[in-house]
Amino acid sequence: MVAQRRGNLKVNGSAAIEKKIKRANAQRQASARKRTVVGTVLWCAAVTVCAALGWWYYVTTGEHITETLVSRRELLQQPKVFSVPCSEDYDNYKRFPGCTPQSCGRAVTDTVVTREEASALKQLAERGLSLGGSEGGASILDLHSGALSMGKQFVNIYKYSGEQIKDVFSKEDFDLYKDVRGRIQGMIAETFGLDPSRLYLTKPTFFSRINSTDAKTAHDEYWHPHIDKVTYGSFDYTSLLYLSDFGTDFGGGRFIFMDATGNRTVEPRAGRVSFFTSGSENLHRVEKVTWGTRYAITVSFTCDSDHAIDNPTLP
Ligand SMILES: *[C@@H]1O[C@H](CO)[C@@H](O)[C@H](O)[C@H]1NC(C)=O
Ligand SMILES: *[C@@H]1O[C@H](CO)[C@@H](O)[C@H](O)[C@H]1NC(C)=O
Repeated sequence: MVAQRRGNLKVNGSAAIEKKIKRANAQRQASARKRTVVGTVLWCAAVTVCAALGWWYYVTTGEHITETLVSRRELLQQPKVFSVPCSEDYDNYKRFPGCTPQSCGRAVTDTVVTREEASALKQLAERGLSLGGSEGGASILDLHSGALSMGKQFVNIYKYSGEQIKDVFSKEDFDLYKDVRGRIQGMIAETFGLDPSRLYLTKPTFFSRINSTDAKTAHDEYWHPHIDKVTYGSFDYTSLLYLSDFGTDFGGGRFIFMDATGNRTVEPRAGRVSFFTSGSENLHRVEKVTWGTRYAITVSFTCDSDHAIDNPTLP
């Protein structure tokens, strides 16, 4: 009996101990789980901070940006003008008094073209480019010559689309284009102290659409540093009208002036016009677009009437 009871006691006792052990184990497991959760959270936080720092490092130093001349967030009430000493490039060409750059520089304005006008011009570009488009990331549409990117080459949109062109472009589109380019010309003349009637529109003047798709031909490689006057001897003043916003419509794609003393960017903003003298004093490039689609118009001017082109007209 006694032994029996003792045995029961023993059984009861060991059951209690077992329970205790189980409880202690459960507690230990719970706190281990808690430690794992805390550890994971800390680890994630550390990874996030490192990624953010890495991204920041890439954005600021990866592209070697020294200074942002005008950011996307700014809305300029007055043109911002930056002087740079003229290069000797202009000495290699005939000089045209009242037009050939005497003082050089670059400027940005947000008041020459409205965002509504930029939006209308972007829609014009979208409609035109929807008829073609490069296989690579960069497509152009030139309303003057009719050149339109198509696969790996170009077609003449006016010949290629025949009567269909009337459904794509209207007289109002061409009037707006002409009006806007006239205002840009006026602003360049005013800023650089030129006689506007001695400045002529020249080629190429074109719409561009850029996305992140890899280049398929050299025509798609827009990101190389270049000097407009070296590429096209006739250029004296180059302007860019942006039709979409850096940071919301696309990433990358900032314009970079590559000076010996540093890389200075202009962040695109729909309706923003950036213009500059075309010589080596304004060596530049465009960052690769990383996402989204960037629309812009390049409007080029010359002082040499032999290289002048007319406003485009609907065929
Ligand atoms: C970029 O544009 C081309 C047309 O030019 C198109 O085929 C391609 O899918 C686009 N890529 C992206 C990433 O949107
Ligand atoms: C400008 O950026 C390029 C890369 O795009 C870099 O090689 C160069 O060192 C930078 N220039 C300066 C002065 O930071």
